[in-house]
Amino acid sequence: MTLAAELEAIAIAVAREGGDLARRRRSEGVAIAATKSALADIVTEADREVETLIRDRIAVARPDDGFLGEEGGTHAGTSGITWVVDPIDGTVNYAFGIPAYATSVAAVTGTPTPGEWEVLAGVVYSPAQGELFHAAAGHGAWLDGRQLSVNAAPGPAGALLATGFGYDAATHAADLALVGRVMPLARDIRRIGAAALDIAYVAAGRVDGFFERGLKPWDHAAADLLVTESGGEIAWIDDQERPLTVAAGPALIEQLVAVASRPA
Ligand code: IPD
Ligand code: CA
Repeated sequence: MTLAAELEAIAIAVAREGGDLARRRRSEGVAIAATKSALADIVTEADREVETLIRDRIAVARPDDGFLGEEGGTHAGTSGITWVVDPIDGTVNYAFGIPAYATSVAAVTGTPTPGEWEVLAGVVYSPAQGELFHAAAGHGAWLDGRQLSVNAAPGPAGALLATGFGYDAATHAADLALVGRVMPLARDIRRIGAAALDIAYVAAGRVDGFFERGLKPWDHAAADLLVTESGGEIAWIDDQERPLTVAAGPALIEQLVAVASRPA
């Protein structure tokens, strides 16, 4: 078994256990524990509990690895591998009872920063929908035993695109301007509410492409590998105040990056 496949097996186990805990907590009722960067940026007790569970499981399986989690569970390791984890991506959906939320678990080498890391294994698990997307570098991307492949090119009506908006209300106008620039390429736009799922859906050919400014490493580390292992491409452009992440198939990526990265 390659190292990537070993890490993938651990990622599958911890994402499934963590996501199932989130779903169980959801069925027991959800309380907002705190707000973070903005009033709209919330965290629930379940976000923290799931991150702790995943961190503890990884510490047992891979004691020398580092950890970077959205809810602050961060430490450097000595093995060169870091686990980049969002315990619940789509927390607002989770809090409002919309089933589009996911547990995202990636193992990366190098600095755990987009553009510098190499993602070796990635899992995006949607417990409410019973879908677990997984990939190991060099082994393809998979959902329920089916190998994933991005859409080769958008159809004649244009691209079905997904995007998201930051929590800070001060960024909404620029994000809407970005949508306006991209719209001529689109047949329609989806705002699903969980970036990890949006990007996993690019890998699965459910949308043709994705773009969003201001994502954090844990929002997309795992899903990035799903896309590259399913024949797609990821672009991460850090020349703006809020970095731009773009995911699409080979026929669309250049055009989408060109339109999306043009300043408003
Ligand atoms: C958020 C979701 C959302 C995206 C935001 C993210 P969180 O993550 O992925 O779709 O638009 O940029 O911060 O806070 O639910 O983990
Ligand atoms: Ca989160």
